[in-house]
Amino acid sequence: MEKINAVITGVGGYVPDYILTNDEISRMVDTNDEWIMTRIGVKERHILNEEGLGTSYMARKAVKQLMQRTGSNPDDIDLIVVATTTPDYHFPSTASILCDKLGLKHAFAFDLQAACSGFLYLLETGANFIRSGRYKKIILVGADKMSSMVDYTERATCPIFGDGAAAVMMEPTTEDLGVMDAILRTDGKGLPFLHMKAGGSVCPPSYFTVDNHMHFLYQEGRTVFKYAVSNMSDACAAIAERNHLDKDNIDWIIPHQANLRIIDAVAHRLEVPREKVMVNIEHYGNTSAGTLPLCLWDFEDKLKKGDNLIFTAFGAGFTWGAVYVKWGYDGKKQ
Ligand code: UT7
Repeated sequence: MEKINAVITGVGGYVPDYILTNDEISRMVDTNDEWIMTRIGVKERHILNEEGLGTSYMARKAVKQLMQRTGSNPDDIDLIVVATTTPDYHFPSTASILCDKLGLKHAFAFDLQAACSGFLYLLETGANFIRSGRYKKIILVGADKMSSMVDYTERATCPIFGDGAAAVMMEPTTEDLGVMDAILRTDGKGLPFLHMKAGGSVCPPSYFTVDNHMHFLYQEGRTVFKYAVSNMSDACAAIAERNHLDKDNIDWIIPHQANLRIIDAVAHRLEVPREKVMVNIEHYGNTSAGTLPLCLWDFEDKLKKGDNLIFTAFGAGFTWGAVYVKWGYDGKKQ
């Protein structure tokens, strides 16, 4: 029997219309455009500011575009997985809400929580469902409404994050394409440095937790920065080595968009020039699980069949890794 691999066959994306600029942030907290651009690299971020709309609203828009671009019928979708840290509700899953909103009648669905590494974990998870031979069309969504848990009185975190969603279709192939290798890691050592203090089962919501700003994202930025640089670089170097990839045959690095200085450090370690690194942090900020597929959404027209792509990310947990993908088609699907 021919070996089945899993290949990405299309991309869809969505970012909300409202743009929060550095000038506006500078009126909210004591900061300025120059600090944000040099320390983080974000110029603007899109924010879903209409009341009553959550992550599934953006995810639905992204998947609608994906279905249209891939000519897919809702009845043909076997599985939809949503990576998110900002689900519409604690339960049910955001993926289940999407099944209804998209009219998926034959799919099962679940959410995956790996913080900013969510899309990396999705690639390996989706690929293994496809490789089982039982599933033919899988939708993988990275979506986060980070504005729902950012404290806009906290200058060290509020300039970083934005809202957005993007999705890919994954299907079987017998060609030498698709998800070729993955190195995924979780150590659990990141809890003190990156978390939300309340709202979970350890510390349920109360007047005390609300009064004390415990429902916002808490981050010790300097520590997270250090681990992000070393772990993303190590994972990329390891996956490159075991697949005989180097600066000459790597076509694209797709790094998590958390900080331009982290992206530059990873590219430097791999000796890959900046023009081979997908960067859009300037316009979106860190959309958590959204960053990697939003890069694909923006750079799809530059991709060619057979291109060697290395995805890498780092997030709360800590979670991190690198995934090697051989791209499956030329240019942009309209
Ligand atoms: O996606 C999940 C993974 N997350 C990440 O990868 C984020 C990793 N961390 C970072 O990107 C960076 O650590 C930050 C952008 C969060 C912070 O940058 P930094 O260069 O590490 O700054 P710092 O926290 O060491 O602070 C340096 C100084 C401090 O002032 P003092 O104590 O030196 O006087 C801060 O108070 O910069 C100050 N500062 C600011 N100044 C102006 C912090 N935020 C701001 C600000 N504007 N917005």
